[in-house]
Amino acid sequence: MKALILVGGFGTRLRPLTLSVPKPLVDFANKPMILHQIEALKDVGVTEVILAINYQPEVMLNFLKDFESKLGIKITCSQETEPMGTAGPLALARDKLDDGSGEPFFVLNSDVISEYPFAELIEFHKSHGGEATIMVTKVDEPSKYGVVVTEEATGKVERFVEKPKVFVGNKINAGIYLLSPSVLDRIELKPTSIEKEVFPRIADDKGLYAMVLPGFWMDIGQPRDYITGLRLYLDSLRKKAPEKLASGVHVMGNVLVHETATIGEGCLIGPDVAIGPGCVVESGVRLSRCTVMRGARVKKHACISGSIVGWHSTVGKWARVENMTILGEDVHVCDEVYSNGGVVLPHKEIKSSILKPEIVM
Ligand code: GDD
Ligand code: MG
Repeated sequence: MKALILVGGFGTRLRPLTLSVPKPLVDFANKPMILHQIEALKDVGVTEVILAINYQPEVMLNFLKDFESKLGIKITCSQETEPMGTAGPLALARDKLDDGSGEPFFVLNSDVISEYPFAELIEFHKSHGGEATIMVTKVDEPSKYGVVVTEEATGKVERFVEKPKVFVGNKINAGIYLLSPSVLDRIELKPTSIEKEVFPRIADDKGLYAMVLPGFWMDIGQPRDYITGLRLYLDSLRKKAPEKLASGVHVMGNVLVHETATIGEGCLIGPDVAIGPGCVVESGVRLSRCTVMRGARVKKHACISGSIVGWHSTVGKWARVENMTILGEDVHVCDEVYSNGGVVLPHKEIKSSILKPEIVM
């Protein structure tokens, strides 16, 4: 089976992290977002992943080349010369997706995190015999997503409305699809939205089905949702593979610590924290609801909550970093500095406190 991941986009909502790498390579729970997806695809027998990309393909490919051999999966790029939207890339990669076998293929948005129940998705798709299956999930604020109205008993989609202005329902498109090759006949080679132009038509022809996604789901393309997504991911890890979580007197709730990270004496870490490869957390540090990415250092008695510390950054002694502070790559927060929601661009040194949420260039 094959899969196409919609990588595109500049990931502006996840700046300053996406100033250093394309969004799918931003670490989530200690590994690039896209690796969570590729590994899960590999587990259900996908042999080739096509990255639909419209910017910096070299960066992605160089990075993923290593994983091709490690994971034993083929990773190729389909590069757009202009942004083709969410359906156009399927037409562009048509020859790769439709190999004549008639087998369905996966399509994923690159910024969604879940337990990726792909095996169940395949089973459901085969059982209904329609053209396309989308996974759906319930959310409190459906207006920022694609909303789906289904026939309760069968899952047949009656309506698909992208970002509705008025309330339509609370079941939304989770950005995970399994499509039969015939869907490709519906898409022209031009910028097209799968949500606005393709799904509504398949629904009209009664060929679109929705499966309620079991387990958690989050679009982690924005900092606040990224932090919520980490909590949900760690909750799920607690149920599925608790041995991967840290334990000990200094740990509170769900905490993921990379094996190459070190943690000093007298720290209190958690809940909902991810500490990446090579990180150094010095003594007496307090961390909660945060991510500390590869190579970062948190100095003595610093306190970080509800924030993201980018790769190779440092947080000084007695510093306090909180309220959705996002430190880009290689940022240095000086000793005793306070950051309340600062969004700090890469390679900056922060010498004085950031008292209210703002972007520091
Ligand atoms: N290759 C390529 N080219 N990819 C693109 C392009 C493009 O021109 N435009 C967007 N993408 C990719 C994005 O990188 C992302 O992986 C995916 O398509 C969806 O785009 P987003 O910008 O993240 O859309 P959204 O979050 O507002 O809405 C989408 O996701 C929701 C779930 O998170 C829609 O699919 C909604 O219906 C859905 O509910
Ligand atoms: Mg998104």
